[in-house]
Amino acid sequence: MLEVKNLSKAFGNVIAVNNISFFVGKGKVFGLVGENGAGKTTTIRLLATMLKPTSGTAVLGGHDLVREPEKVRGIVGILFGGESGLYDRLTAAENIAYFGELNNMDKHTLKERIKQLTKIFEMEEYINRKTGSLSKGMKQKVAFARSIVHNPEIMLFDEPTSGLDVTAIRNVHEFIENCKNEGKTIIFSSHSMVEIEKLCDKIGIIHKGKLVDVGTVSELLEKHNENTLENVFVKLVGDKNES
Ligand SMILES: Nc1ncnc2c1ncn2[C@@H]1O[C@H](COP(=O)(O)OP(=O)(O)OP(=O)(O)O)[C@@H](O)[C@H]1O
Ligand SMILES: [Mg+2]
Repeated sequence: MLEVKNLSKAFGNVIAVNNISFFVGKGKVFGLVGENGAGKTTTIRLLATMLKPTSGTAVLGGHDLVREPEKVRGIVGILFGGESGLYDRLTAAENIAYFGELNNMDKHTLKERIKQLTKIFEMEEYINRKTGSLSKGMKQKVAFARSIVHNPEIMLFDEPTSGLDVTAIRNVHEFIENCKNEGKTIIFSSHSMVEIEKLCDKIGIIHKGKLVDVGTVSELLEKHNENTLENVFVKLVGDKNES
C-alpha cells in the first residue's frame, strides 16, 4: 500500500513536484504519465528516499517517508530505465549481493535468495561472470534480480522500457506483471500510452509538477469524453501549455 500526501519538491525556484496526492493499493499498478520535465522522476526519487520532500509526505507499507526513511528504503525496490547501473567489474552474483548488503540482509539469507533468483531468472550460466562481459538481455535479468533481492513490497519503475528493443520491453512487462501477481504495490512511469494502458490499474497525469487527473483508463475516457488515452492526455496537457 502506498499513499502520497501533498508531496512537493522544489529545486530553488523550480517546483518540480507540486502538492500531489494519490493512493495505490496492494497488487495494483499506478502509471505516471507526463511530458519531459513534468516531475515523474522527481516523484519516484522522492518515494525511493533518494530526495527529501520540501513539504508533504507519503506512507509506504505503513511507514512514513519523512519520519522513517530507513524503514521505507528497506521495503522499496527500484528499477530505472537506461543504463542498468550494474558494476561491470563485479560478477552478477556480487552485484546482487552488494545491493542486498546495502539493505542489511544477512549473509545466509542473501546467499539463499541469490540461489532462488538465479533459478527464477535462469541465470545459472553466467551468475559468476563479471557483468561487463554479459549481453544486454543478461544484464537486464541481473538488474531485475537486484531490484527485488530484498523482496520489497513496493516497486518503483522509472521509464524502465525507454530505449529498449521489443524483446527487452516484453521482458520488463512480464517482470512488472509478475511483481503485480506477487501482490507488490507498483508505480510505473512511461511515455508510452500503449504500455500504460496495458499494465496500469490506475493512471495519474502529471503536468508541470501537478497531478492534473487520476483514474482508470475507462474513467478518464468517460470523464473527458474521448476514445483514446492519448486524446485525454493531449486535452489535459495541451490546454495547460497554452496558458
Ligand atoms: N537535481 C535537480 N536540480 C534542479 N532541478 C531539477 C533536478 N531534478 C529535476 N529538476 C527539475 O525538475 C523538473 C522535473 O524533472 P523530472 O526529472 O522529475 O521530470 P520527468 O517527468 O522525469 O521528465 P522526463 O520525462 O524528461 O524524464 C524539471 O524542471 C527539472 O529540470
Ligand atoms: Mg524522468
